Amino acid sequence: MSEAATPRDLLIRYLRQRAELGEREIILERQRASQLLERLHGAGAPGPARPATAAAANAFEALRAEVLGCSRCRLAEGRTTVVFGEGDAEADLLVVGEAPGYEEDRSGRPFVGPAGQLLDKMLAAIGFRRDEVFICNVLKCRPPRNRDPVADEVASCRPYLRRQVELIQPKVICAFGRFAAQTLLDTELSLNRLRGVTHEFMGVPVVVSYHPAALLRNASWKRPAWEDLQALRRVYDEAGGREPGGERG
Ligand code: URA
Repeated sequence: MSEAATPRDLLIRYLRQRAELGEREIILERQRASQLLERLHGAGAPGPARPATAAAANAFEALRAEVLGCSRCRLAEGRTTVVFGEGDAEADLLVVGEAPGYEEDRSGRPFVGPAGQLLDKMLAAIGFRRDEVFICNVLKCRPPRNRDPVADEVASCRPYLRRQVELIQPKVICAFGRFAAQTLLDTELSLNRLRGVTHEFMGVPVVVSYHPAALLRNASWKRPAWEDLQALRRVYDEAGGREPGGERG
């Protein structure tokens, strides 16, 4: 039995029929067919749509507003800002770190301190500009003195991360560091056990690597980190991620 036609298949079939009838330009809902096809990109794939539509973009902004006003856990009391995340809300690559540090807490932006500068270089090494990916953390608020996050803080923040994944619909997630990897994958396995294998979170492939801050402390991890980055790029390409290095958005 043949598989059910997706909306994209149906549209293609319809456009072909109209073309066969001699129509050279077809305006659908005041859009050119090519634009409509572009918007239908991925409509045949499983999972929710990307925030290409106004409704999804609104949902993303609503989520941002909710997170910025969050007071679900004690971290709300000590924070300067909430660090929601930044980048392309339709990125094919989602980068997930642990939690904001001092500079992130002050600026409201993820990965802007020394670890962030290294992260930018790591992304560049596999072809990505920072503004082409979406960067966020498991925790949206800084734990006091950068202490490790505790379980109830993670439990409070986890739904926000899940919603970010749902709305961004990345093709690949890269978890940087033990904490991000263990949280996403709901495991207590060590970072070394998690590296080198492609995992899955909400149906999205997950690649695990060293946290850039750890690489700043231990140069001997740079070689294996480079291997992880190459694997990340491979998984990204295999998953159909858009060619990075395009025009600035
Ligand atoms: N470390 C993280 O995990 N995230 C940041 O945003 C900054 C440092």
